[in-house]
Amino acid sequence: MNRDHKSEQAGEPEKICTGATDSAREQSLCTRREFLAHSTGFAVAGATGGLAAARSLSAHEIRARGNAPDSSVSNAAPGKPRRIIIDTDPGIDDAMAIFLALRSPELKVEAITPVAGNVPLDLTLPNALRLLEIADRTDIPVAAGASHPLVRRLATAGHVHGVNGLAGVEFPEPKTKPVRETAPEIIRRILRENPGEITIVAVGPLTNVALALRADPELANMIPAIAIMGGSLSGGNMTPAAEFNLYVDPEAARIVFDANIPLTMVGLDVTRKCRVSEEHIKQLEAANNPVSQAAGKILRATYERMRHGGEVTDIDLHDALAVASLIDHDVITRKDYYVEVETVGEWTAGQTLGYDGHGPVRKSPQMETSAPEPPPTELPYKPNAQVAVGVDPDRFFRLLIPRLTGSAG
Ligand code: RIB
Ligand code: CA
Repeated sequence: MNRDHKSEQAGEPEKICTGATDSAREQSLCTRREFLAHSTGFAVAGATGGLAAARSLSAHEIRARGNAPDSSVSNAAPGKPRRIIIDTDPGIDDAMAIFLALRSPELKVEAITPVAGNVPLDLTLPNALRLLEIADRTDIPVAAGASHPLVRRLATAGHVHGVNGLAGVEFPEPKTKPVRETAPEIIRRILRENPGEITIVAVGPLTNVALALRADPELANMIPAIAIMGGSLSGGNMTPAAEFNLYVDPEAARIVFDANIPLTMVGLDVTRKCRVSEEHIKQLEAANNPVSQAAGKILRATYERMRHGGEVTDIDLHDALAVASLIDHDVITRKDYYVEVETVGEWTAGQTLGYDGHGPVRKSPQMETSAPEPPPTELPYKPNAQVAVGVDPDRFFRLLIPRLTGSAG
């Protein structure tokens, strides 16, 4: 979805920490500054083989232990679907991503974990339940995630996704309920029960994934791949620097990027080229199945809102491309980068900076202090992500539309 550079700020009261905790529910009681200080160390420790190795390794020391692992190759046995957990903030394009995943035999959705993002959790959660009911897949568990970022106030994008998160299209209240586990708890359980088997597909702010890593740092060694829709090496959509998912929770993003998990970053560099057309919408509207009809309604409502509002009807299906990249490897082209997430910029927090190895990995000059020996401002280049640098939009829509209309057979 395209969006201008404004967002709603949803205030959240500061909460008092209950001390070191493992459960996400308890975690949300922590003061956010304490949480962050605690978390980065834990997440980094996890990448070195677990708590036994837990010491305050810097993220770059972690990266110095290996190249950007290849996150694009499926870990599924030949002929078997890739098993995934979708972490999401539905969300118009999230809905398309979830529908695509559910309609693709190459993927097996093990759980859906809503997070606050496009709209608050009290909308993304029922929306996730609704989408599964529309697709007749209520066998898939939905576990409620974080209602706010790790340390910041929640910024939402209702002006883009509609006040209900689905372009204002009214779908029936969900009949199904979420499971009792929280999102970080179900992520942790499924990963521990299936080490090396489960790919994380994160298409919203990364709060849930960061909380899971914080609760159980060893998870970093159990995740064969994570595909995120987020970031941008070519400018943001919420600020000139930051893409929405990382704008909302930069601290969570840094924990995930620093966890040394094989990561594919599907950012605005490519998703902005995946613009749905009115012809695509007509194809969805013409197909006689609940998924296609729902997708058509959501996109039609968005298209008409933009058109009547005098906006350019640029509906970018960001999240669906992240899912498509797991179904059709070559729908995007990838390049190794060392990606750093800005977390302290007053105007740039959430920016992703990509170093491609040509030239030093250089930080800003240190503030003048009495410290005798400031830490280095240059770090060795060690890629930590495969960034999508190219896309074939026609190939993407030739995959997406038939899967949703059901004409893919
Ligand atoms: O910047 C695009 C991303 O932000 C997408 O995931 C969209 O759903 C919003 O969450
Ligand atoms: Ca999203």
